[in-house]
Amino acid sequence: MRNYKRLFVILLSVLLTYPLCAQTNEMVIKTNKPGAEIQPTMYGLFFEDINYAADGGLYAELVKNRSFEFPDRLMGWKPFGKVIVRNDGPFERNPHYVRLEYAGHPHKHTGLDNEGYFGIGVKKGEEYRFSVWARTADAAKNAKIKIELVDVSSQGERQAFASQELIINSSEWKKYRVILKPDKTFAKSVLRIFLTSREGVDLEHVSLFPVDTWKGHENGLRKDLAQALYDMHPGVFRFPGGCIVEGTDLATRYNWKNSVGPVENRPLNENRWQYTFTHRFYPDYYQSYGLGFYEYFLLCEEIGAEPLPVVSCGLACQFQNDDPKAHVPVSELGSYIQDALDLIEFANGDVTTTWGKLRAEMGHPAPFNLKFIGIGNEQWGPEYPERLEPFVKAIRKAYPDIKIIGSSGPSSEGEQFEYLWPEMKRINVDLVDEHFYRPESWFLNQGSRYDNYDRKGPKVFAGEYACHGEGKKWNHFYTSLLEAAFMTGMERNADVVHMATYAPLFAHAEGWQWRPDMIWFDNLRSVKTVSYYVQQLYSRNKGTHVLPLTRDNRPVAGAEGQNGLFASAVWDKAHQQVIVKIVNTSDKTQSVKLNFSGLKKSEKLTGGKLITLKSDKLDAENTLENPFFIVPEEKEVFAEGNILESQIEPYSFYLYKFTLSR
Ligand code: AHR
Repeated sequence: MRNYKRLFVILLSVLLTYPLCAQTNEMVIKTNKPGAEIQPTMYGLFFEDINYAADGGLYAELVKNRSFEFPDRLMGWKPFGKVIVRNDGPFERNPHYVRLEYAGHPHKHTGLDNEGYFGIGVKKGEEYRFSVWARTADAAKNAKIKIELVDVSSQGERQAFASQELIINSSEWKKYRVILKPDKTFAKSVLRIFLTSREGVDLEHVSLFPVDTWKGHENGLRKDLAQALYDMHPGVFRFPGGCIVEGTDLATRYNWKNSVGPVENRPLNENRWQYTFTHRFYPDYYQSYGLGFYEYFLLCEEIGAEPLPVVSCGLACQFQNDDPKAHVPVSELGSYIQDALDLIEFANGDVTTTWGKLRAEMGHPAPFNLKFIGIGNEQWGPEYPERLEPFVKAIRKAYPDIKIIGSSGPSSEGEQFEYLWPEMKRINVDLVDEHFYRPESWFLNQGSRYDNYDRKGPKVFAGEYACHGEGKKWNHFYTSLLEAAFMTGMERNADVVHMATYAPLFAHAEGWQWRPDMIWFDNLRSVKTVSYYVQQLYSRNKGTHVLPLTRDNRPVAGAEGQNGLFASAVWDKAHQQVIVKIVNTSDKTQSVKLNFSGLKKSEKLTGGKLITLKSDKLDAENTLENPFFIVPEEKEVFAEGNILESQIEPYSFYLYKFTLSR
């Protein structure tokens, strides 16, 4: 009887203390059981020319409508005096140019101002390369033009703050260059060009670039924006879109062949984001193709990402075209398939091949080593698989090593998703592109999304995703935190998920059509959102192998009874590091005990680091004015043997990193 009493007392005390114990989340990380390999492509970037991401953004050209090819030939330009638009210029595919004629009196002027993209942003003391193709209108005499950067704002002094003169000395078309060095920083200048001689002049392809572009390329990229891409350490770079791959109609689809060769002769394309959202209508949004496929491949090489170009599958945007006649009939897909094959040749072909030769002429004789290609973007219905199949057959035959990416449609689930996944398996693509722009509740509930995916079928490319929060803010902390939480599930399932890219990437603060976006910019500044830092923390700490991490033998995926905690762990073979990511999506501090199991007696956890990303306010965000409001913070941590006890603050992302010393 006394024994029963004792047992009862023990049981009671266990029961009474249980709630306290239950609050300590013991997570077991099996450090000696590295599992699935994590692909080097796991975390990457998706680039689309939306929100003025290319022209007016990453592409550092400061002149809008430089070739006078916009349908309204002088859009972006303000002419004065005698300016005539002509169409027999030196570049076959961009035939328009302007003639400046003497205004009739030495005190009168002929010329034109370019407004740039929301103004022309220049920095004091920096150099800007003005270039123009020109010829004298009168064969016998030289002509002269003046080039100025002018502040025409109402508060400004309405005067030039950088100026140069150019002598045009030939009646043959030639390229002229001159450097402008502004003596002030100004986001909204105009570029003014005017005639200072009686002799007239013809001008074509008027261009202004910062000299200091990314890697110094003349037809280059804006340095701060390209640097932000590099700093991500992306594994893969998907381009050139999105919906612009498909076009509003087939005529406006992205045609990669038009985007290579000399920039002066790359024909203009309409950008569908010009009018897709009527409440954000930008009539001056075109694609110059100045940032074309050669430049994309080069960028990939320079930022260390695998290039992943996407080509049209012959379907124009299905959101915008109900009529089957809007698409290419399957029997007439030949030239589209050839475009895909030629693209692979452009990237990888020997310099003796047609397209490999062009790549070499453009400056890159070595192949770009393309491994992946996407066929189609957000396609659906039987019209997609029936077009995809002949592409797959032709590519497999000519290039058996190239990995092909198919689509699961525009949604993360639902009828089309259910239909397309089996179709992708049947066609045997290598990866399936999934898109999910979903609310907070979705991200909170999808921690286990990939746990039960078929391990034998095609792999997953989460090609476009972002948490779209409710409320007025768009890039606020909470949505980014939920992305971090969701990503633990991708990481735990890295045997299935081989690539993931947040979307969209860039947005001009004055010219966006879609938000949230990962990096915002204006003419002079840029800001990395919290989502950028989440992506960066994953990308720079992706490891090489998944490590099993469980609580009560279950994955920590925010599921019921898990207190809103999400977690994943990886092993980095090269650096001999164990990395653990924990996201607390709850409003409570959580006690966590990390149990690094399987350490040998000789192994120690050393060099411990904790990186946190947190904010007191869920709707706080980084802005152009306050770009470093929420950034990762790093400090040292120490494990006791194989145990680390920690308090994870409410709404926070914790990343632990230890080196295994022997
Ligand atoms: O990222 C913006 C758009 O979203 C992409 O162009 C398209 O693929 C998706 O609908």
